[in-house]
Amino acid sequence: MMHLHKFEKIWLIFGIAMLTVFLGIVGVQAFAQGQTPAGGMKKIDPEKVDVTAPFDNPGVHQIDDDTYEVVIKAMAYGYEPSEIKVPAGKEIIFKVTSKDVIHSFTIPRTKVNMMVVPGQVNEKSYTFRDPGTYLILCNEYCGTGHHFMHTEIEVVEE
Ligand code: CUA
Repeated sequence: MMHLHKFEKIWLIFGIAMLTVFLGIVGVQAFAQGQTPAGGMKKIDPEKVDVTAPFDNPGVHQIDDDTYEVVIKAMAYGYEPSEIKVPAGKEIIFKVTSKDVIHSFTIPRTKVNMMVVPGQVNEKSYTFRDPGTYLILCNEYCGTGHHFMHTEIEVVEE
């Protein structure tokens, strides 16, 4: 009887220890996630995209001699603005958000392939080496018009 009591006590202590460790891990994870919300992306109100900077002014903006920003809105089933022209050999920072569901902003044969999530400023930097017309398409199934969702980007000699 005495031995059984001792065992129960050990199991109880073991149980409490496990619970403490478990809660500790959950707490640390929550803290770590709080430090880097959703991969460090900026949050915006997906209902107010048209009046939220930088999406209130979509298009190509020169930042300095070597850097351009391209602000794009994705929606079912297209991208705005529809005409994008950037110089080759310069850093292009794409900032894309969605006005409805999850889309993608994919430029085949480049490393630009990002998910476009409503409520997030999705960012990717890229430098086009060669001038030409590049296809931009949606890689995330977003509805009946998904397969037609695309646009083009014109890369011109600087
Ligand atoms: Cu947008 Cu598929």
